[in-house]
Amino acid sequence: MTGIGRVLVAGAGWIAHRVHLPYLARLRQAGGLGELLIADTDTARAEAAAREFGARMHAGSLEEAAAGIVLVATPPSSHAALVLRALKAGAQVVVEKPLALTAADAAAVWRNSVESGLRVYPLYTSRHRPEVAVLRDAVAELGDVRQVRAAWMRRSGVPVTDGGRAAGVLWDLGSHLADLAVHLAGWSAVTGTATARHQHPSTGGQDAAAWQTVTAAGGTASALPCWHGVSAAATVDPSFPAGPVRQLRLEASWAAPGAARDEVRIDLEAEKGSVHWRTVLGWSPDRALAPAPAAWAVRDGERHVLVDAQPRDARHEYAGQLDAALAALTTPDCRAEAVRHLRAACASTALLHAMDSALSGIAQPFTTAV
Ligand SMILES: NC(=O)c1ccc[n+]([C@@H]2O[C@H](COP(=O)([O-])OP(=O)(O)OC[C@H]3O[C@@H](n4cnc5c(N)ncnc54)[C@H](O)[C@@H]3O)[C@@H](O)[C@H]2O)c1
Repeated sequence: MTGIGRVLVAGAGWIAHRVHLPYLARLRQAGGLGELLIADTDTARAEAAAREFGARMHAGSLEEAAAGIVLVATPPSSHAALVLRALKAGAQVVVEKPLALTAADAAAVWRNSVESGLRVYPLYTSRHRPEVAVLRDAVAELGDVRQVRAAWMRRSGVPVTDGGRAAGVLWDLGSHLADLAVHLAGWSAVTGTATARHQHPSTGGQDAAAWQTVTAAGGTASALPCWHGVSAAATVDPSFPAGPVRQLRLEASWAAPGAARDEVRIDLEAEKGSVHWRTVLGWSPDRALAPAPAAWAVRDGERHVLVDAQPRDARHEYAGQLDAALAALTTPDCRAEAVRHLRAACASTALLHAMDSALSGIAQPFTTAV
């Protein structure tokens, strides 16, 4: 990685306090970063964060910051517009998940990134878990992936921040699941049809995520959404010349009735066998309860353990994603990897956009146009 000049963090909320600002402040102290600027539409929040992390509050526009890298950590509805503005201002971008809320916005980011030669690295934390590389290798040996089932069921974990909650559970937890599905199955470009339905109506607010304390760093008082869960499916044609249609089933809940503990389940069925992952993602304290083994493959009727232990400390994958993001933006050799990563984010955004629209009850076609 080459030296990094000025970084602007846009959005000084919960995730910025928990992950981005401590990481960047440490990097600056170690001499790996020239200047750290923090902006927030809530200027008091930006000012407090700047004091806490030894940074400078930026009160002007994103363009006036003249940053080499902009890190977007605002609520999802503002991501695509801020990324496009940052690219136009000549900055490279790290953006929190989801990349965008529509396939068209994701494609616009892709186009502008390619045309400007500036890189955009979306943060899909879960793929930075060490198990994912092991799973991907195992899946690659099993031939064509025919079906992916991905579920993230929390017993009690409705985000308290606007950034986590406003776009709904499909975009909050589902964006990690869709990214993992696309990444593990190797579906870089997708077309198909999606269906979806809501489940688990709100029980009135007793289900807030215990690990997200409401402080000056974030958290607002707006009403909880009406639904805590979603179940969605898609037929996926990953642009293969022929062969059967692939299926993706996705289920996500912030508060699944009757769930004893949080659980993430990913199952991939391929031509020559299957791969299975059971774990807990994110900051939930239920990480401590996830049983081993974490992942196994089944081939010729035999079960092979792929990953025995469960990673208990979430900080590693959150720091790992930022290591990867900064390397992707600043290292010439990482160009191909950065392009692959952005293309996958466009594919998962197209899938989720169609699923989100299908919550109306009408099946929705989708295609990644990149
Ligand atoms: N990878 C993960 O595990 C993970 C976990 C939590 C949140 N996130 C993502 O991080 C993002 C932020 O979530 P959060 O929980 O920190 O939200 P938050 O509501 O706590 O923080 C968002 C901040 O952005 C500010 N803001 C809003 N619009 C802005 C704009 N146009 N310019 C500058 N500032 C603006 C708000 O005032 C607020 O301080 C979301 O996209 C969310 O999905 C990811």
